[in-house]
Amino acid sequence: MRTPEIAVRPRTSEDLPALAAVLERVHEKEGYPVTMPPSVVDWLSASRTRASFVAVVDGRVIGQASRAVAAGDRAEELWKEATGLSSERLAVVKRLFVDPGTQGRGAGRRLLEAVVADAHRLGMVPVLDVDAGNGRAQAIYERAGFRPVGDLELTWTGLGGVFLARCYVGPPPPESAGRPSPG
Ligand SMILES: CC(C)(COP(=O)(O)OP(=O)(O)OC[C@H]1O[C@@H](n2cnc3c(N)ncnc32)[C@H](O)[C@@H]1OP(=O)(O)O)[C@@H](O)C(=O)NCCC(=O)NCCS
Repeated sequence: MRTPEIAVRPRTSEDLPALAAVLERVHEKEGYPVTMPPSVVDWLSASRTRASFVAVVDGRVIGQASRAVAAGDRAEELWKEATGLSSERLAVVKRLFVDPGTQGRGAGRRLLEAVVADAHRLGMVPVLDVDAGNGRAQAIYERAGFRPVGDLELTWTGLGGVFLARCYVGPPPPESAGRPSPG
């Protein structure tokens, strides 16, 4: 039997309802996000989001990842200290998830690669934070060249608990990326 190919392309607003359904299943099966946002569409289009990519199998949207600005992020200072860069040079990888039924086939890695390539195109360094208990996601990030730079203790008001976010810095862009070409 043929294994359907996974394609990755930029997200459009028409993808959002399908992604909301995918996120519902991810939440039920894997507890991500810990609490479902009141509006998934708003959550996926949060104001710091600058670009998003979707993974598609046989015309069906099965997952996504976004690039967001670092300014105002809870981990902004930690990333700045770890890289010595200003927030404008940092691209935050966010909202990465894949439908539980199609996980383990490379979609997560491909989505991460798409956001990293997009950051590099702009001469930016990709950064992210992840629940310190999410070993699977951490393995994917570390295999993609991300290194942990510290943990942040966050208070989760909705749940009344403390949550440990592991912060990562990804590979820098190739030397020439994002700079104006001479002449
Ligand atoms: C994390 C997530 C996006 C990964 O998506 P995915 O499509 O299953 O990932 P991939 O198939 O690309 O696997 C990536 C790598 O992880 C490895 N992997 C797969 N299943 C694994 C497991 N159970 N444990 C550890 N590694 C695993 C794969 O071998 C692959 O490695 P490779 O690229 O070297 O072959 C997906 O599991 C998910 O949506 N989880 C819930 C949401 C979440 O936690 N998001 C991260 C928020 S920061």
